[in-house]
Amino acid sequence: MSLVLVETKERIARIELNRADKKNALTVEMYRMIGDALAAAEADPQVRAVLIHGRPDCFCAGNDIGDFLNPPPGKTPASWLFETLPGLSKPVVAAVGGPAVGIGATMLLHCDLVYAAPNARLQFPFVPLGIVPEFGSTLLLPRLAGYQRAAELLLLGRPFGADKALEIGLVNEIVPEERLLAHAREAAAQLAALPPASLRLAKRLLKSGYAGLGERIEEEARLVRERLASPEAKEAFTAFLEKRKPDFSKFS
Ligand code: COA
Repeated sequence: MSLVLVETKERIARIELNRADKKNALTVEMYRMIGDALAAAEADPQVRAVLIHGRPDCFCAGNDIGDFLNPPPGKTPASWLFETLPGLSKPVVAAVGGPAVGIGATMLLHCDLVYAAPNARLQFPFVPLGIVPEFGSTLLLPRLAGYQRAAELLLLGRPFGADKALEIGLVNEIVPEERLLAHAREAAAQLAALPPASLRLAKRLLKSGYAGLGERIEEEARLVRERLASPEAKEAFTAFLEKRKPDFSKFS
């Protein structure tokens, strides 16, 4: 079974993360598949809206930590997503249940409508992992949540629930787990029924307030690449895979 399932039906391109045994952690291959699906949705005149989801009990556990330990040379694999999602002219709806960690949380900042189940557990654990926050989150989250709340979420990197995500404006609505996907699909269908050119223009105008976002995504990605090789990050990744607490006491 493919790690990312893509289906276009009734003018909605549905992208489903499908790596349940690893909590939908994203591998290089999965980033490519999602990037390709987004690019195809953008190019297909039949597609009017995109829906991204995982399983009801797990949206996405972020970048595969094994890949972080042995990153492929060149661009970060997440670049496939960085280069497609923020610039998509068509609206994107996300349905989030269970963990939404790392890029599983930062990608939500680039979606247009986000629905979460009460079991959603979001987290930006970049600093605790010895890297830095990515995907424009250091620019977008303070704007959304205010500086102190963004600093709390991005520096401490602790998990938070659907209520807090709603309070800071990262999600639109909390929807019972059993209704989550249907609810998100209905929202995508409503978007897909709108006049498409008007919708694209409105989205472009809404997004045009974020000057410097592309440069920030690049700067963060450059720093993430540098940090991946750091002893701090190696300790954090190895500790996760060895199922133990990391020890940063020897670092200055
Ligand atoms: N990369 C690689 N493997 C991952 C992973 C990731 N990001 N997230 C989870 N997994 C794997 C676990 O290692 C475990 O594998 P195993 O069964 O071979 O031991 C499996 O997925 C299940 O994960 P587990 O931790 O047992 O599930 P959980 O329900 O207790 O916790 C999470 C779920 C998502 C909260 C937890 O797995 C987690 O914190 N993952 C890391 C998230 C992260 O830091 N991502 C990087 C962000 S930049």
